[in-house]
Order: sequence, then structure tokens, then C-alpha cells
Amino acid sequence: MSVDHINTRYIKVDQNNPKADAIAWAGLILRQGGLVAFPTETVYGLGADAANARAVARIFEAKGRPPDNPVIVHVASRSQLSALVASVPREAEILMDAFWPGPLTIILPAGRGVSEAVTAGLATVAVRMPDHPVALALIKAAGVPVAAPSANLSGKLSPTHAGHVLQDLDGRIEAILDGGPTGVGVESTVLDMTAEAPVILRPGGITSEELSACLGKVIIDSDVITGCYDGESPRSPGMKYTHYAPRAPLLLVTGNQQDVALKIRQIACAEKSGGRRVGILTYSDSSDFSAAGEVVVAGCRKKPETVAAGLYTALRCFNELGVDVILAEGLDEKGVGLAVMNRLKKAAGGRIIEV
Ligand code: TXA
Ligand code: MG
Repeated sequence: MSVDHINTRYIKVDQNNPKADAIAWAGLILRQGGLVAFPTETVYGLGADAANARAVARIFEAKGRPPDNPVIVHVASRSQLSALVASVPREAEILMDAFWPGPLTIILPAGRGVSEAVTAGLATVAVRMPDHPVALALIKAAGVPVAAPSANLSGKLSPTHAGHVLQDLDGRIEAILDGGPTGVGVESTVLDMTAEAPVILRPGGITSEELSACLGKVIIDSDVITGCYDGESPRSPGMKYTHYAPRAPLLLVTGNQQDVALKIRQIACAEKSGGRRVGILTYSDSSDFSAAGEVVVAGCRKKPETVAAGLYTALRCFNELGVDVILAEGLDEKGVGLAVMNRLKKAAGGRIIEV
């Protein structure tokens, strides 16, 4: 669908001390049905008034998002939940006490008034309170819960810098608040609290270990581990779409670190002799691949949170380098490493080699 060209206003804000007039202005745009991109602690979001079905529909148009993929509603206070959810189970309250504001999205039964544009017709709604001063100030200024998916074109990499948002959405949205790079770097954990036991539908900034420590048993949806969707009806519609994809095909190599390094060198050599330019996604504490291809370092493998923070920028780097194929080293699926590996598996779209 073609989208009318809009003059996108770009405003820099100090994330620790956002100027009240800039935030009030952006809040007014939201109240008037406009679209504002803003930083959260995970990735940049593309916000609209969640109660305004037409404004939410515009999010889908601007992103080219499939209509059956529901969006997360962001709140600045728990009192805003009463208009959104039918009930808050005790366990969900415990999670909110422990992790809000923070990178945890909770799926709850939707309240009656919630627009179908938000839920994509599901009986549930995803809610989260972001841990970012600009996001919280904007939601407060708007005075309404804010529906916001990641601020990228559908299927592209999520934005961790305002510049990434401009690359995808300049001319399609009213405004962008630039609060600098986001911290966590991967999206929030999506946890379904409407089933018998809590289920992680998307791993993210809050780890499964943290959730288990708080709730006891937490189930990890099988699609999270495979990184691909092969069921009839995914529990989270977003799962069935290719996501997080850099332009070049990505091959993910997993297993013992030394064997992985050997395999990557072998494949790089074969690709180069076929005349293709090779990119290698690696870590600061991995072996040196500089002779094998164009190396991009995403972070330190022993500290998966540094890899999460650098992952999307690293993948975008390969677009700029113009490589023909990307070889990525796997990580331990511990802590936020589970979220990083889930995104790499999705980016690989099934091209995974286990050595
Ligand atoms: O960190 C984040 O969560 C970012 C920032 C902006 O808050 N947002 C984000 O939104 O990643 P989005 O739309 O890119 O991803 C939301 C995911 C999708 O996979 C969607 O299918 C799922 O949450 N989701 C939303 N509502 C749902 C629902 N009612 N039931 C199941 N899954 C839902
Ligand atoms: Mg997204």
C-alpha cells in the first residue's frame, strides 16, 4: 500500500532530562491521531493512541505490517491498565512488581473497549511499561496508553538508534524523538499469562531464568528455540513472519567454539573462491577472522547483554558493507543469549549448521 508523504519532524531530546515542551508537543501529536517514534530501553517504538483505531491502523500502513499481527500497548502507570485488560491475575501483578518498568510484555485477557486494530481480533492484549524516561514522559503527556510496535518497516531489523528509524520511516510518520541509542538492544520478552502456565512467546530483555526465579515454572514456546514457525496457529502471530533480516542471507553456525571457527573459515574460503564477498558476525572474545572476510564484532560472548546491545547495529553494518553472505557464530542460549540466538535463527531463516 502506498503511504502519503508526510514531513517527518526530527527532535533530539536529552534522555535523562527531556525538555517538557518537546514532550508535550509529541504527546499532542499522539492525541491528535499522529504517529511518533520514540526510544524505549529495548528498541525504538512507533507510537499511536491505542484508543484511536484509525491512528493504530496508520501504524500498520506506515510499517507495511500484516494486519493479523497485534501490537503491544505501552503504559506509564498501572492505573492505565484498567481500560485495557479484563483482569490482572495475581501472578501478573507479581511480575509487574518485579520487572516493571522494564523489558517484559505481559499478555492478558483484553478489556471490552480495546480496539481490534490493537489486538488483531484476538481476545488478549499485550501490555508493557517501558523503562525509559522519554517513553514514560511521552505516554504521560499523551494521557493515553500508546500502541507501539518496533519502529521499522515490517520484516526489517528493529531500530536501536533514531537514525535507523529515519532510514525506514522518514516521510511516513509525523515525528521522531531522538533519545540516543537504546540500552538493551533486543525487544522485550513476551510472556503469555492467559494459559495454564506462563509461556515465553518471544525471549527478550528479561531472561527466562529471571522469570523462573520469580514464578517457578515458565514454559518456553518451542518456536522460540527453533526460531522458525511451523505450527498451524502460532500463539504469537509475530512468530510466523520472517524477522530481523539483514539483506544478505545469513548462515548461523553453532556448536563447540573451535569447531565453529573452523567451519566458518572453511565456508568463507569456499564462498570467496566462488567470487562472493563474505561477512562474519563475531565477538570480541572469539578468534580472529579478519583473514576470512569482513568482520563485524557484536559484543563480548561472555557478556551476552553486550551482544544484545550491539546485535542490530552489527547486522545493519553488513547491509552497508554490501556483503553477499553473512556467517554468524552461535552463542550459549543462557540469559539474554536466548534472545540473541532467537533473533539470529530468525535472521537465518532455517540456514543453521550445527557442528
Ligand atoms: O521491546 C519491545 O517489545 C518493542 C518496544 C517498542 O516496546 N516493541 C516490539 O513490538 O517489539 P513488535 O510489534 O515489534 O512485537 C510485538 C510482538 C509480536 O511478535 C506480536 O505478534 C506479539 O508481540 N503480540 C502482540 N500482542 C499479542 C497478543 N495479544 N498475543 C500474542 N502475541 C502478541
Ligand atoms: Mg518488531
